[in-house]
Amino acid sequence: MPSATPDQPTRPGLEIPPHPAWPSLSDDEKAATKTRIKGLLQARDAVLVAHYYTDGDLQALAEESGGCVADSLEMARFGADSAAGTLVVCGVRFMGETAKILNPEKRVLMPDLRATCSLDEGCPADEFSAFCDAHPDHTVVVYANTSAAVKARSDWVVTSSIALPLVAHLAEQGHKILWAPDKHLGHYVQRMTGAEMLIWDGACVVHEEFKAFALERVRRLHPDAAVLVHPESPDEVVDQADVVGSTTQLIKAVAELPNREFIVATDAGIFWKMHQVAPDKVLIPAPTAGEGATCESCAHCPWMAMNALQNLERVLVTGDQEVLVDPELGERARVPIQRMLDFARERGIGARRDAD
Ligand code: 13P
Ligand code: SF4
Repeated sequence: MPSATPDQPTRPGLEIPPHPAWPSLSDDEKAATKTRIKGLLQARDAVLVAHYYTDGDLQALAEESGGCVADSLEMARFGADSAAGTLVVCGVRFMGETAKILNPEKRVLMPDLRATCSLDEGCPADEFSAFCDAHPDHTVVVYANTSAAVKARSDWVVTSSIALPLVAHLAEQGHKILWAPDKHLGHYVQRMTGAEMLIWDGACVVHEEFKAFALERVRRLHPDAAVLVHPESPDEVVDQADVVGSTTQLIKAVAELPNREFIVATDAGIFWKMHQVAPDKVLIPAPTAGEGATCESCAHCPWMAMNALQNLERVLVTGDQEVLVDPELGERARVPIQRMLDFARERGIGARRDAD
């Protein structure tokens, strides 16, 4: 099971922004803002497509207004299925870009176009393209958390909910895989499938902070708790998991497992949905502090935190944060994304299976 880290030039450190300090709204102000946003959505023929890591108020509003709250695979599907002419994506830029690539005729807005992702930033298209050129005998599989240009250079796009079955399928057919950009997810997939993989050296700044040593201590304090881990976490954290999966798969585990307590190693935004589907369960954030820690509890994506009721309302008024993708690039990026969606549909993978 060979693994190799590509010879890449060292990238300059990514600047991680502080969490934005949104002025707090009273309950009345919040309710009034939500009512105005619902009116604007109707007036603009727009629908909200929100990720589980965004603020709970946004997730609630997306549900109340007929939009969706989902993982990145389902967000891509919902946008394509929706009849609305404008998709307002509350999440990070690759999610907005994917929505635009799949729906070039629709207008795609985001509360703040600066909301990026460390995986996307850590995989510049030119360096990635050179890496692919150096390994022409490999099938290129990229995580959805990448730019349109990187997707356009790939054979397949995957999200965390589909990475394992897809790579297992390709390995069975004898493909050697070039994987980018998340090294932790790549290692997990490699270990689980035995696929021959070359793995790019990227990481999520949120999940990388979960500490295996501190997690062991929390597990000792809660011996009956099930441990739920998103596979962007370090290998030693993944090794301690009872369930490893995408955001949707982790939410399902909270609802379905008999345990009363859960230790959760993913972005804290997910607790809103977990509380909603399983109000009686006890949710314990996995530690980001302990030996080797660099922050107290930083399990919240600074770019997801750029989405708020205030700038959502603003963009619905101004329309100035529109996601644009070069049409020719978008056409090329669409091919591997559509392959993923077709594979998911054929295999019945993802949230839609429950609805079918
Ligand atoms: P999911 O596809 O599991 O929702 O993950 C997206 C993401 O960015 C996780 O950090
Ligand atoms: Fe990217 Fe990590 Fe934020 Fe997800 S949580 S958007 S992988 S930086």
